[in-house]
Amino acid sequence: MDTYLRIGIAGLGTVGASLVKIILNKADLLEKRCGRTIELTAVCARSRNKDRGVDLTKVEWFDDPVALATSERIDVFVELIGGEDGSAYESVMAALKAGKHVVTANKALLAKHAVELSRLAEEQGVSLNYEAAVAGGIPIVKTMRESLAGNDVERVYGIMNGTCNYILTRMEREGLSFAECLADAQRLGYAEADPTFDIEGFDTAHKLALLTSLAFGCEVDSDAIHVEGITSITTADIKAADELGYRIKLLGVAQRTDSGIEQRVHPTMVPKSSAIARIDGVLNAVAVDGDAVGEVILVGPGAGGDATASSVVSDIADIARGNMQAVFGQKAETLAPYEKARMRLHEGGYYIRLSVVDIPGAFATIARRMAEKNISLESIVQRSREAKSFAPGSTKPAEPQPVILITYETTELAIREALEAIASDNVTMGKPQVLRIEKLK
Ligand code: HSE
Repeated sequence: MDTYLRIGIAGLGTVGASLVKIILNKADLLEKRCGRTIELTAVCARSRNKDRGVDLTKVEWFDDPVALATSERIDVFVELIGGEDGSAYESVMAALKAGKHVVTANKALLAKHAVELSRLAEEQGVSLNYEAAVAGGIPIVKTMRESLAGNDVERVYGIMNGTCNYILTRMEREGLSFAECLADAQRLGYAEADPTFDIEGFDTAHKLALLTSLAFGCEVDSDAIHVEGITSITTADIKAADELGYRIKLLGVAQRTDSGIEQRVHPTMVPKSSAIARIDGVLNAVAVDGDAVGEVILVGPGAGGDATASSVVSDIADIARGNMQAVFGQKAETLAPYEKARMRLHEGGYYIRLSVVDIPGAFATIARRMAEKNISLESIVQRSREAKSFAPGSTKPAEPQPVILITYETTELAIREALEAIASDNVTMGKPQVLRIEKLK
């Protein structure tokens, strides 16, 4: 084994700059821990003149990421460009074909091309490591790929988007608007370049797709995920959740069901007593239910330059030590095609917020429609009438009132059909808010 491991980094944004800093400042520590020198040999970024707070005078600069990826001067290509296609895809493919180890933080790239890239890496006998792609600084890939090898996984779930968790936490604690919180998350460097990826749930879905493959040994297929973001969550929902003993979190969940693997990302009501409910701000948490170990929960920063770079360094250290693992914990050719559970068969409790027309019999109509679909109600909460809507003797129609239903376990199909029937009864206004309740310890 050569004493030097030569690193080339493509992309010097927040994570890239932090990575350079760690490699340069902790050279001695890394050498002691890995038994060889980790040398930053070359970088590739759009602007050479930008001040990144790190000394790059001794490294070679490339303008073309593919030229860096295939350079004789590097052993490991670190892709921090981002994006599911374009230069990220081209340079990673080129690096693997050239027999270079690859480390990437790019979940979008893997969510789309994991099958092809993992097969190529294995054919070439090189590592494809991606710890930073899932939950930033949390070492969940290593935990699932190596430490939980003796477990059948029943469910993997978690908070995997720092931006959304930061927004929901601040809305809850400070009563701030969604837009204000999103702007702060962007300023602090948590959000994706296009924040719709965060708030619409796609970033969580990309990460969940990778965890699903690690958990269940199936091919990565992010198109199989049911995705809902947090943009419909109002302060009324956050307040109601609090009063009913829940908190709202954007969860990614993959679980084994009788009809296949269910993968879903959506705002979720989680009991306040659960560990996941206490994960606040930019923190992420990933829980794995294994048959031998029980539940393991890892908590840590899911975004931010230094935390994410910490995971990239761990991947580089594994390569330096010669610790090479199958990309998804088993040979790519043994990953099974995806057996997708249909979302309408999802079973669980539901929170439903309706805007109910204030007329006699409205409640009875709603309860009847629920009963027709065998949906059992745990509670119905009606906010007291506001003075303006209550005008005895007046001929003016009263304002609709928010009514919140909590159901016992039922199916998604039953809920959808009951709500369609209620909409046709003209006792509600607007679109109902529907949130799933996750059963947690
Ligand atoms: N935008 C992501 C988040 C960071 O907010 O968690 C890295 O995936």
